[in-house]
Amino acid sequence: MADDPLFLSTAIEAALAAGRIQRRYFRQDVKVDKKGPIDLVTAADLEVEREFRALIAARFPDHVVLGEEQGAGASTASRFRWIIDPVDGTTNFAHGIALFCSSIALEIDGRLDIGVVYDPMAEELFTAERGRGAWLNGLPIRVSKCDQLIDSLLVTGFPYSVHEERQQMVNVFAAFLGEAQGVRRLGSAALDLCYVAAGRFDAFWEESLHPWDMAAAVVIVEAAGGRVSNYDDGPLNIFGRQIIASNGSLHQAMVAAIGKARH
Ligand code: IPD
Ligand code: CA
Ligand code: CA
Repeated sequence: MADDPLFLSTAIEAALAAGRIQRRYFRQDVKVDKKGPIDLVTAADLEVEREFRALIAARFPDHVVLGEEQGAGASTASRFRWIIDPVDGTTNFAHGIALFCSSIALEIDGRLDIGVVYDPMAEELFTAERGRGAWLNGLPIRVSKCDQLIDSLLVTGFPYSVHEERQQMVNVFAAFLGEAQGVRRLGSAALDLCYVAAGRFDAFWEESLHPWDMAAAVVIVEAAGGRVSNYDDGPLNIFGRQIIASNGSLHQAMVAAIGKARH
């Protein structure tokens, strides 16, 4: 557990500040650059990460930051590592679709302890501390009780490498289309995961994610009673680029369906 209350309050302060920046740029004809053929970056992504780094440097000068837009920076050793996605859902954001968030995690001694995800358009603040609980706007949240795939609403996403790797992803997607009540693709992995934590979705899977896409929301899912793993049901590694997150009851069925569809 992260015993200094300043850690969680700093993450919340930073997420709310990120939301103000995102709202200021949203639907304002913001400049969009390309990091790859389909991988976008906007002025909002850059400004949120810059402001976040300035806040951490001022408040916790010995902490390190891993962020999507500036990477790991100078690799000084520290017990504390913040992992931030300044805008998760950048493609939605750049197209004026109000489904995006910021995602902020704190890892202490190699363990993810704090997660904060903020959706500024819905004004939904998801927070969690390992061992203490998960909350949406201050009220406790819990994963769903669904235990049959046929009754489940699932969510997934497709990475920026989808053009090269699409067949296997389509196979898995098709398998769940044939087994679940419904499958969604919202465009923000962090929100997908928070919706599992809040019991809106029953499970999520995606491959080729980056650590900043999942770090914060993984803490939230686990603190809400859910389970996370890699595709083989092994321990989740946020650098391992594969995740299944579920309400727990559906986890084995998710692992089995993905395994079958990929082989
Ligand atoms: C993306 C979103 C999307 C997921 C992609 C991510 P970004 O993050 O989370 O839902 O399918 O794999 O890269 O680029 O909007 O921060
Ligand atoms: Ca992301
Ligand atoms: Ca991003």
